Formats: sequence, structure tokens, C-alpha cells
Amino acid sequence: ARRLGSKKEKTLAMIKPDAVTKLGSIIEAILDTGFTITKAKMVKLSRAEAMDFYSEHQSKSFFNDLINFMTSGPIIAMEVIGDEAVASWRKLLGPTNSTVARSDSPESIRARFGTDGTKNAAHGSDSIASAARELEFFFPSSGGRGPKNTATFTKS
Ligand code: TYD
Ligand code: MG
Repeated sequence: ARRLGSKKEKTLAMIKPDAVTKLGSIIEAILDTGFTITKAKMVKLSRAEAMDFYSEHQSKSFFNDLINFMTSGPIIAMEVIGDEAVASWRKLLGPTNSTVARSDSPESIRARFGTDGTKNAAHGSDSIASAARELEFFFPSSGGRGPKNTATFTKS
């Protein structure tokens, strides 16, 4: 049930190439936290797609390592809905660097399933505006052919 004053939001949760084999445990953690998963897609990003997704970081020293990692295998993108989902999913994710996460937030997804400052298991949108952009990137509202997205995955 929704708490009084809570704000239902959508965010993008993405499982990165190093943690795709942990899909089951990560879905379990997402559902146990009370989120609903409304869309999911597994894709292997091209270099151009990864560079577009992470374009805000294009001038950073880590950009090339990030793109190499993000194109090293499939990723799983999910639309996640819940109370204050943007901040709440990032809290469950933990700090960006998995080594830091293991000391500061040992129960977090990045602590449990990530390796270091680049291979950190999963992504979360950092704002409502980023979430809208990133959800449109993976799940374009123009839709295309095929079945409509009407299923949900939630903990009863
Ligand atoms: P960033 O947006 O700062 O972190 P977050 O994913 O927590 O929003 O950075 C995007 C990704 O870039 C991050 O998940 C891992 C990678 N990265 C590095 O490889 N090295 C770094 O020093 C930083 C800050 C990020
Ligand atoms: Mg970020």
C-alpha cells in the first residue's frame, strides 16, 4: 500500500555485464524492497549505443573503460516503479564503487555483486529527468511491432 505523502516514480534499473548471471538474486532484492518491475529487456549494446547512453561522461578519464565494459556482454534493462523509486533504487544499489560499497553499505547490490569502480553490477537513473530519458532509450514510447508491455512483476 502507498504511504501517505509518498511519490510514485519510475526509474531505469540496468544490470551490467558483470552481474547478468545474478539476475535472479537482483530481481529478488528489487521485489523484496517493494518495487514493481513493469518492463524488462536483455540487449548487447553497440559502442555507439553505450556512448549515447553515457554521453554525460564523454569527457571523463574513465569513459573509454566504461564503454569497453558496458559493451563486453549483454545487459538487462528494467523499468522499476515504486515510492520515490529514483532515490530508493539508488540507495539499494549503494555507492558507485563496489569496494566502497562493501565497507559503507554491505547489503547493497553493488557490494554484493560488483567488483570495483567500473564493474559495479548495476545502474540507476540519478533524477526524474534522467529516468525519463533512460527509459525512453530502452523502451521507446513509439513502441514498434510486437506485443504491448502490459505485464508486471511484483511481490504479493
Ligand atoms: P557515475 O554516473 O558517476 O556513477 P553512478 O553509476 O553511481 O551514477 O558514473 C557512471 C559509471 O561510470 C559508474 O557506474 C561506473 C563508471 N565509473 C568509472 O568507471 N570510474 C569512475 O571513476 C567513476 C566515477 C565512474
Ligand atoms: Mg550516474
